Amino acid sequence: MKRLLAGGGVVLLAIFVQSGTAGHVSAEEGQKRVLVVYYSRTGYTHSVARKIAERFDADLERLIDTRKRTGPFAVAVAGKDAVAGNRTVLKPLQADPGEYSLILIGTPAWFGNVTPAVRTFVAEYDIAEKTAGLFGTTNLTGIEAALDQLAGLIAPEDSPEQAREYPRLPLRQKDLKEEILDGKIDAFYQEVMNSSQDNPLSSPTPTTQ
Ligand SMILES: Cc1cc2nc3c(=O)[nH]c(=O)nc-3n(C[C@H](O)[C@H](O)[C@H](O)COP(=O)(O)O)c2cc1C
Repeated sequence: MKRLLAGGGVVLLAIFVQSGTAGHVSAEEGQKRVLVVYYSRTGYTHSVARKIAERFDADLERLIDTRKRTGPFAVAVAGKDAVAGNRTVLKPLQADPGEYSLILIGTPAWFGNVTPAVRTFVAEYDIAEKTAGLFGTTNLTGIEAALDQLAGLIAPEDSPEQAREYPRLPLRQKDLKEEILDGKIDAFYQEVMNSSQDNPLSSPTPTTQ
């Protein structure tokens, strides 16, 4: 009987340990894995980025554009900069993107274009092989076009077809209600996990905590 109880204890412990780690893949010691980098002028992309970071257990880096982007005149210039494909000057980043295995990049759509801050980030950092997914927000239109443009900016010149492979999460502001957004982020998470054989997060033998 004692042996039976002890055996049951081992099984229970195994179930407990398993359920405590299920679905959570941790980094190898000292190695950070997922960084969510995004720009947000009015907070919509920021709220999505926070939820994505939670889902991926990722660090967050909000890009700060040193150019003034508030007020009617500055917003008009912002739109013109986006359409012209102008870069900007970013505040130095807190995180070192080079330390991360996967990077998720978020931008609002400005007239169907990526924002100058995100355009500058992808120009200044070599992230083609690390990029795992793209997301962004718009009021009504242009986010698909902006994410396509972003994919084209990231993909290596000698392999433009890689642009098609980055999973995308294009969102309208009406999608940001919790009951809609959670499902969309889940689908994005699955797509990122399945997107690449080399993706360390989708490794068949992940290290568990
Ligand atoms: C310069 C500029 C251009 C924009 N162009 C569009 C547009 O063409 N279509 C649209 O539906 N929303 C447009 N928007 C609205 C933003 O895409 C939308 O509000 C977005 O969710 C803002 O994200 P944020 O709060 O993270 O800055 C534009 C906003 C700005 C500032």
